[in-house]
Order: sequence, then C-alpha cells, then structure tokens
Amino acid sequence: MTTTTQESTYQEWSERARASLMNTYGRYPLAIARSQGCRLYDTEGRAYVDLLAGIAVNSLGHCPERLTQALLEQTRHLDHISNLFFQEPQIRLAEKLLATCHADKVFLCNSGAEANEGAIKLARRYMRKVRGRDVHEIVTLEGSFHGRTLATLTATGQEGRIKEGFGPLPEGFRTTPFNDPKALQETVSDATAAVMIEVVQGEGGVRPLSREFLDVLLALRQRHGFLLIVDEVQTGLCRTGRFWAHQLFDLRPDIFTTAKALANGLPMGAVLATDEVARGFEPGTHATTFGGGPLVAAVACEVLDIMQEDRLAERAEQLGARAKKALLEVADRHPEQIRAVRVQGLMIGVELAFPGQEVWQALLDKGFILNLTQGCVLRLLPPLVIEEQDLLDFAKALEEVLDATAQ
Ligand SMILES: Cc1ncc(COP(=O)(O)O)c(C=O)c1O
Repeated sequence: MTTTTQESTYQEWSERARASLMNTYGRYPLAIARSQGCRLYDTEGRAYVDLLAGIAVNSLGHCPERLTQALLEQTRHLDHISNLFFQEPQIRLAEKLLATCHADKVFLCNSGAEANEGAIKLARRYMRKVRGRDVHEIVTLEGSFHGRTLATLTATGQEGRIKEGFGPLPEGFRTTPFNDPKALQETVSDATAAVMIEVVQGEGGVRPLSREFLDVLLALRQRHGFLLIVDEVQTGLCRTGRFWAHQLFDLRPDIFTTAKALANGLPMGAVLATDEVARGFEPGTHATTFGGGPLVAAVACEVLDIMQEDRLAERAEQLGARAKKALLEVADRHPEQIRAVRVQGLMIGVELAFPGQEVWQALLDKGFILNLTQGCVLRLLPPLVIEEQDLLDFAKALEEVLDATAQ
C-alpha cells in the first residue's frame, strides 16, 4: 500500500497535535491546507465541498475578497484600543444589527457561549435590579446546546461528557422536554427568570419548535412575567431563511444572542435586547476585553452589508427548498434507511434509521464535508453562497452511499 502525501501529512500533524494540544476534539481524518469559496483543499490539493461552513460560521464562503479588504483597511488605521474608548466600527456594527430586528441595544463579545452567558446574566440582573423580583431560574429545553462555559453547559439540555466531571455546576437551571407544552407548563413558575430556546435546535439534530409549543410558551410568559431568550448562535444571520430565526414565528424575544457567522470566522458574538431589558446592565456590571474590537467589528459590518445586498436570507430559503425536494426524493426511495429530512433554510438534517458513522465516512470519501450529530443525523450547514448544484450533487452522492450500504 502506498502512503499519499495527504496521509503522511495527516499522520505528522496529528502526532504534533497530540503532543502539543489539549485532547478536546475528535478530529476528522483530514489535513486541510487551504480554503476558498465553498471548497476546502487537503494537503494534496484534493477539493472537498464544504457543507459545514466551519459549523455555520463561513456563511459567505471562505476567504471572500471583500472581507479581506475590510480587515486590511481597518488594520491600517485603528486596531485594538479597549472598550474604555468610543470607536466608530463598533457603533456602526451595533446600528447595522439593530436595523435587522426589533431589539434596541447590543453588547458585543467573542463567542456563542459568552453571548449566552451574558444573556443569562442580563436576565437575572434585570429581574432583580429593574423589576425588583428576586428570581433567578433559567429554563432550557432538552436536546439544546448553549455552550461550554459552566453556566452555559449547565443550561445545555444534554447529559454525558459535556457535563461529567465539571461539578459543582451552578444552581438555578432547569430543563424541560422538547416541544412538550404540558411539561413546560409544569416547569415554569413565578420563580422563572427566563426561558431560553433555540427556535431550531442545531446540535440537537436540526429540530424546529412547534407553533403550538411557542404559543403556550408566550401565554406562560404573559402569566408569569419571565423573559424570553432566543439563542440564535447557530440559527441567526440569514441561515434559516429569515435574518433571524425568531422572525419565522413572529417572536419578539426580550434578549437574543448570536455569534458564529457574525464575522464569517473571526471570533465575535453579540447579545441583543430591548431597551427595557438592557436597563439590567450598568457600567461595571458586565464587560469583555476584546468584544467589538475595531478589527472584527469592521469585518462584521461588511458581513452584514453583503448579507443584505445579496439577499442571503431569501437565497437560503430558496436553496433550502430545492435541497429538501432532492433529499425527500432520496428518502422516498430509501424509506428503510432515512427516517426524516428536516430543512429550515440552509439548516439541513437527514436523520438516518441507524448509526451514521459509515455513511458520513463514505460521503467524506466522495468529497463532501458535513457533520454527524446525535449519532444518526447528517447535518448540513453550508455557506449561504453555495451553488444549488453542490446540494444536488450531495443528494446524488447520498443516494449512491445508501444504495451501497443496503447491499
Ligand atoms: C445554539 C448554540 N449556542 C451556543 C453555541 C456555543 O457557541 P461557541 O462555540 O461560539 O461558544 C453553539 C455552538 O455550536 C450553538 O450551536
């Protein structure tokens, strides 16, 4: 057997990584040297169709020239100065974000977990200091994913490695079954400070909340006076066919968070809130050194401009519909192997009826990068600029793999 350059580079890099990096990731068997547009290239130059986009991050594809230019331009005249000063790119970004939604104020940070941590802090402080109610309970849903800090992993409605060994976990978090209005009714009370949801659960297997569940949630919010937090870290910024996924259901969350695609790969997160709830923060109550720095803010401004100029929410909706049609046809021909196809814009989940590792590997061998969540859901979060043909080619490849698996 001959060893390819890709294999030997992969061996070398994985050994160096094992020796130098903490052992936190189960990595794919790939050594990636270059990324461009909707393709990743391994060290031998083999191209892969990127249907994962850095897990919903590179919505504009890889290395888009306008972002390179925006970053270069910004590095030439104002880099990091700290949040002790006013600086224009941060303000411009906040204004652009607010123009997309009902929120009135923004707090800029560096990641999804940090944004959710900020949202939890804001909800609790608002309840105590503004509403004068000593409540702190945060209710989240089973199957949710909210991050890896102590508070956000506690909020996450999944058990196992994510939580084991990290105790004591912070108090004041409760989870309730997914899409179960009756259970929600029994979980929330006057002690609830906020309910935090993903409108479509990402890590949970691309699962949308039902209108019925949301209606009950809104009625309970009215009755108990808790806040609604929507985690849009994965669903936000045009991915689901609207600028924000909560707009699919005409929700007006008191607080919502975002991150991933905001600066197309530079670390950035944001907490958005109504004016009323934003009163929960005052100088000295919450901060972060890097949040909204001029370099990332300049890039994020460009990202938002491009998303609007190129109408990427509409594009996500249209391409999602075409992908759904193609995948449902595959599912119709393979009813024993595909349990469900769930599509919301360019958030796509194909639930297999069996553990999906081999199918995932076979798709990778055919040149398609995606991920497997919950053990059996093939999850696609492609760049929003993906070509329709790439999605149709994926459906064809999936069919071939399923045919081969059935034999
Ligand atoms: C819905 C959701 N919330 C929060 C997070 C955490 O974001 P980060 O990894 O940037 O901390 C993720 C990451 O996958 C996510 O999908």
